[in-house]
Amino acid sequence: MFPDLARDDVFRLETARLWLRWPRASDAAAIHRFCSLWEVARFTARMPHPYPPGSAERFIYAAREANASGRDLTLVMTPFKGKRDVVGSISLESRGADRLTLGFALTPEVWGKGLATEAARAVVKTGFGLTSAIEILANVRVENAASCRVLEKCGFAIASTGPLGAPARGGLFECHSFSLTRQSWTEAGVLRRQQLFADRGRVQTSSGP
Ligand SMILES: CC(C)(COP(=O)(O)OP(=O)(O)OC[C@H]1O[C@@H](n2cnc3c(N)ncnc32)[C@H](O)[C@@H]1OP(=O)(O)O)[C@@H](O)C(=O)NCCC(=O)NCCS
Repeated sequence: MFPDLARDDVFRLETARLWLRWPRASDAAAIHRFCSLWEVARFTARMPHPYPPGSAERFIYAAREANASGRDLTLVMTPFKGKRDVVGSISLESRGADRLTLGFALTPEVWGKGLATEAARAVVKTGFGLTSAIEILANVRVENAASCRVLEKCGFAIASTGPLGAPARGGLFECHSFSLTRQSWTEAGVLRRQQLFADRGRVQTSSGP
C-alpha cells in the first residue's frame, strides 16, 4: 500500500510539536512504560494487560517489518522539546486493497494537549497523500470519549455502531466504526482553504484605508 518513500526508516513526519518516525530498538523501555498502564490498554483491542516482558520489542520488530514491506505505516511520536522519549504511537494498517485503519495510543502524561489530534491529522494526510486508499477507518469503544473526539476533530464520522471483538480484552464490546473517505477529506480541505482565503480577504479589507 505504501510507496518506497515510507518503506525506509529515515522516513519521518514533522508536526507543530512532534516528530513521527519509525520505532527503533532503543524505544522499547518508553513503549513498555506506557503500554503497561491499564488506562492506556483498557480501550484497545490488541494491547495485552499485564503487558508481558518483550512485548515492546515484538511491537517494534513487527512495526518495522510491516513498514518495510509497505503494508502498514506505524510511527512513534517524540516531542521536539524536553526529553526526546517516545510519548505515543500511531498507525495506519492496510485493510483490503484500498482501505486503511487508524489506531493511536499516547502516554497519559501528555493527554489533553491536542497531541493525538495533531499526529492523527498528519498521518491521515500522509495516508491519503502517499497511497490510493479511498477510505480510512477507525473502531472505537463507545465509552472512549477522548478517542471519539480526536477522530471527529480530524473529520471522521460514525458509520455504524455495534459489537466488535477485542481479543486482548477477551470479548465483544460496543464500538463506533468511524470513517473518513478520501472524498470528504478532500472536500473539507477545499472548504478550509476557501475559508482561509475569505478570512485573509476580510483582514485586508478591514485594515485598508
Ligand atoms: C485517546 C487518546 C489517544 C487521546 O489523546 P490526547 O492527546 O489526549 O487527545 P487530544 O488532546 O488530541 O484530544 C482529546 C479530546 O478529547 C476530549 N476528551 C478527553 N476526555 C474526554 C471525556 N471523558 N469526555 C469527552 N471528551 C473528552 C478532550 O477535551 C479533547 O477534545 P477538545 O480538543 O475538543 O477539548 C489518549 O487518551 C490515549 O492514548 N488513550 C489510551 C489509548 C486509546 O484509547 N487509544 C485509542 C484506541 S481506539
